[in-house]
Amino acid sequence: MKTSYDVVIVGTGIAGLHCALNLPKHLSVLLVAKDYAWECNTFYAQGGVAVAKDEADIALHVSDTLHAGAGHCVKEAVDVLCSEGPKAIASLIKRGFCFDSDEKGDLLYTKEAAHSTHRILHAGGDATGRHIHLFMMQHLPFPILYNTQVTDLLMHENTCYGVRVLHAGDIINLYGKKVVIASGGVGSLYEYHTNARTISADMQGMCLSHSIELADMEMMQFHPTAFVLGTAVRKQLLSESLRGEGAKVVDDEGRRFVFDYHPDGELAPRDVVSRAIFDYKQKSGKEVYLDVSDFEESHFQKRFPSIYFNMKNIGYNLPSERIPISPAFHYSMGGIRTTMNGEVLHVKHLYAIGEAAHTGVHGANRLASNSLLEGLVFSYRAALDIQATLSNASSVISFSEKEAILICEGDKILKNELRHLMWCHAGIVRNEQNLQFARKRVKEMLELPIGKLLRLRLLVSQEIIQSALKRKASLGAHFIQKRS
Ligand code: SIN
Repeated sequence: MKTSYDVVIVGTGIAGLHCALNLPKHLSVLLVAKDYAWECNTFYAQGGVAVAKDEADIALHVSDTLHAGAGHCVKEAVDVLCSEGPKAIASLIKRGFCFDSDEKGDLLYTKEAAHSTHRILHAGGDATGRHIHLFMMQHLPFPILYNTQVTDLLMHENTCYGVRVLHAGDIINLYGKKVVIASGGVGSLYEYHTNARTISADMQGMCLSHSIELADMEMMQFHPTAFVLGTAVRKQLLSESLRGEGAKVVDDEGRRFVFDYHPDGELAPRDVVSRAIFDYKQKSGKEVYLDVSDFEESHFQKRFPSIYFNMKNIGYNLPSERIPISPAFHYSMGGIRTTMNGEVLHVKHLYAIGEAAHTGVHGANRLASNSLLEGLVFSYRAALDIQATLSNASSVISFSEKEAILICEGDKILKNELRHLMWCHAGIVRNEQNLQFARKRVKEMLELPIGKLLRLRLLVSQEIIQSALKRKASLGAHFIQKRS
């Protein structure tokens, strides 16, 4: 098996695939997927891709992003995202990708919470991520190594030389002149989440274990509307575009209580709606529902086919039946700190892009549908930077293929305990006492004889908790409940 490449990309979501698509075909590039290539967050993305509709909309897209980010965004990153977004979309369309359009061929834009205008492109109705993923896979000129768990970064003196992986029962070192982390966020740390089952913070944990800086790890986003009943690990997302197009959040009596919390009701920023649902459920003891009954059935089925059929399989007839909902963990605004070109700070030849990265573009609360755009824009920049600097890569040094024990008996029970702990104590509403409890328990777990993969999860959980403890005042998605 070939083990030396120009570029090794970890992850096959929009950021990893788009980075690969923008690298010259003569390079040797390998993508590494933990499972099937489609088991990634991109594949499950419903709502769409936010993008400025015209030149005049760029400034408005910037201001909506900054506003949702609660003043915590890095303005330079937001400017890059919003001004380079239209070009990224145009290039995808030029390659042959079809977003949904009307009979005249004009692109259809929808609206989602905290956007001041309709600027969300979608494909296959509510299957935007799946369509983009399939399209990129069809055009990918490089191989993917499937079912491959990355177990470590090959690091020496602040330089990355590749990754160690577990593949088909063997530990192998894969060397790359450039290594790109595009492995997504941290979903599996939480009991209720909307993420692909592969998204478990491993790469962030490896960064921590090599003293590579993560930033804003207290900023965890909870999507307001997920169907969390049932045993599926990944909870069914009910796209924000449903609310953008008229769905209502109601209680048992049909009351639209979110207006008690914010004048924009269901279309307030995502963190506000999530907390309103969480708080209302706790205080009133009532069930909360998404009411889509204003949609005409044939339109609903055409516009939201995935939700329509998935919910039908679970036993809900839409749009007539209301869906019980809860917030669920959705997206990590925090991540591996990078430059605007995706270079990981203070590490040579290592990049991070997409949800794994922290450019500061999302601040304290990501604006709906900005993440697929982020995946496109920053992966393109990383691809350009890789091409420009490939010849500077250090000569390869050889690493041992020894690896620690990855999984121990008993890890599964602890993993589930961790998910519950993070959901209850470092979730939507936090307080000092709960965070201290979680900190103590995570420390205890780290002292147990556990496998490396669980250790990585615990390191990232610890980082989330410690960052949350450091930020004393509420900001965006980080909400600290004061004692009354
Ligand atoms: C959704 O469809 O509500 C998800 C969009 C996003 O996470 O940006």
